[in-house]
Amino acid sequence: MSYKLLFVCLGNICRSPAAENIMNHLIEQNHLTGQIVCDSAGTSSYHIGAPPDQRMTFAAVQQGIAMKGCARQFTKADFDAFDLILAMDRENYANICALDPAGNYRNKVQLMCDFCTHHTPKEVPDPYYGGTNGFNQVIDLLEDACLGLLDHVKQQLKA
Ligand code: 4NP
Repeated sequence: MSYKLLFVCLGNICRSPAAENIMNHLIEQNHLTGQIVCDSAGTSSYHIGAPPDQRMTFAAVQQGIAMKGCARQFTKADFDAFDLILAMDRENYANICALDPAGNYRNKVQLMCDFCTHHTPKEVPDPYYGGTNGFNQVIDLLEDACLGLLDHVKQQLKA
């Protein structure tokens, strides 16, 4: 059995692929490959098929994280396919929940920053129209959130 995580942002080229690749790095370091499986998606169709944004890739590589992936759009089928869906910001959260009007999967959808233990922001800010600092800040926040998320999933795997 594996625990399946889906990271979701707007375009699936900056924040959610960064979260996916940081998490995969932690999973490897913790010898949990195969036990925790990650994917990412965007709520929009803007960048379907695109690789991660070069600015996001640069910021990640500077922290020792290689960036892999190809953008896809979030679909209703993802509600059943994943155990936990992590929204980068409140708008992503609302757009995901809009595809589940009955609220059947509401307990599977959480804000990524809910897993932060050191940083206080409740959202991972959209870095797309900003400068280098924004991309570095995304990596910083996600490294914190991914560590908290890893602890959470470890508990779930034990239960
Ligand atoms: P992401 O960033 O949601 O973190 O992948 C964005 C990517 C593209 C756009 C906005 C945000 N866009 O407007 O094209």
